[in-house]
Amino acid sequence: MKRVDIDRYGAPEEVARCVDVADVGAPGAGEVVFDVLAFSINPADVSFCRGTYRLRPVLPATPGAECVGRIAAVGGGVTTVKPGDLVVNLQRENWAQRRRVKADDVIPVPPGMNLRQAAMLRINPPTALLLLSDFVELKPGDWIIQNVANSAVGRLVIRLARARGVKTVNVVRRAALFGELKTLGADVCLVDGPDLADAVKTQTAGARIRLGLDAVSGRATARLSAGVGDGGVIVNYGSMSGEDPVMARAGLIGGGQTLAGFILGRGLASRSLAEVRAMYADLARQVEDGFLSAPVEKIYPIEEIKTALAHAQRGERSGKILVAPNGAV
Ligand SMILES: NC(=O)c1ccc[n+]([C@@H]2O[C@H](COP(=O)([O-])OP(=O)(O)OC[C@H]3O[C@@H](n4cnc5c(N)ncnc54)[C@H](OP(=O)(O)O)[C@@H]3O)[C@@H](O)[C@H]2O)c1
Repeated sequence: MKRVDIDRYGAPEEVARCVDVADVGAPGAGEVVFDVLAFSINPADVSFCRGTYRLRPVLPATPGAECVGRIAAVGGGVTTVKPGDLVVNLQRENWAQRRRVKADDVIPVPPGMNLRQAAMLRINPPTALLLLSDFVELKPGDWIIQNVANSAVGRLVIRLARARGVKTVNVVRRAALFGELKTLGADVCLVDGPDLADAVKTQTAGARIRLGLDAVSGRATARLSAGVGDGGVIVNYGSMSGEDPVMARAGLIGGGQTLAGFILGRGLASRSLAEVRAMYADLARQVEDGFLSAPVEKIYPIEEIKTALAHAQRGERSGKILVAPNGAV
């Protein structure tokens, strides 16, 4: 069986290798074995390989925060899934052809679900959902602002906000994206820069913005917060700049804003397994309906993991980079 291992931390395309390893074996009681059909390469996986992610396991280690798989076998006592079912895995180490995990860790998804979208269900859809629900109680007509608006998370935020009647200011790095984001439901689109706050005021007619979602960090956090109203919350949930977030005193002290942090694992851990399963079932339904989706730029075989990783780190992609370890999806 093939698996991706890193045996040192560094540039992902240099440290990740596709290796041949022993099969995972038959499932024990309470376990399942599934074939990994597709996995995505997310910014967190890139950080994991670099050794800059919050988890830094003893090496060698296998990356991979999410995947979609098909159940190949179930062990004694397992009643929640059966062979042939499509599942997403709540645990890590998914960059492999096969996984053997606890049955409680897999969540079944609809059998007809698009495999590419299913491969991206585990992380970004619940992230977008919880960013909109766990910090500010938003009502129809409220405004939010977000950067990386063309990312997978950003696009999902636009859709989910729109469905609630919440208006979005969407900050990106190039104006060429405005058309497709508006088609998704974006209300206002702006290019990041020193005049961002003035542009926000003009484009929203001075509306009070209650929530700012920041995944760039560095000075971008302060630029975003300058567009958020007094008493608003800025949620930092990523660092595409590789820097720590910088807040201006004008927002924090003068405006009484709050800077909060989000990580999906904490958001899920504060909910029961039944609530988590219900949330994924609802998100899977919205993906199956075509309401939620993320674009894909390219799918690689697992043997080409180095090329896939180099590609995933390029700016101005049109969508995510996926890997299909058991043949085309
Ligand atoms: N905290 C959590 O639990 C959690 C969960 C999921 C995702 N996230 C975070 O959410 C963010 C988006 O993830 P994703 O999977 O949706 O991303 P993605 O689809 O891979 O898109 C990456 C985005 O980052 C932008 N970008 C890249 N380098 C940048 C830079 N130096 N400065 C500003 N923007 C830059 C890209 O813009 P261009 O198109 O202009 O290159 C693009 O919008 C990431 O920071 C990720 O770590 C956090």
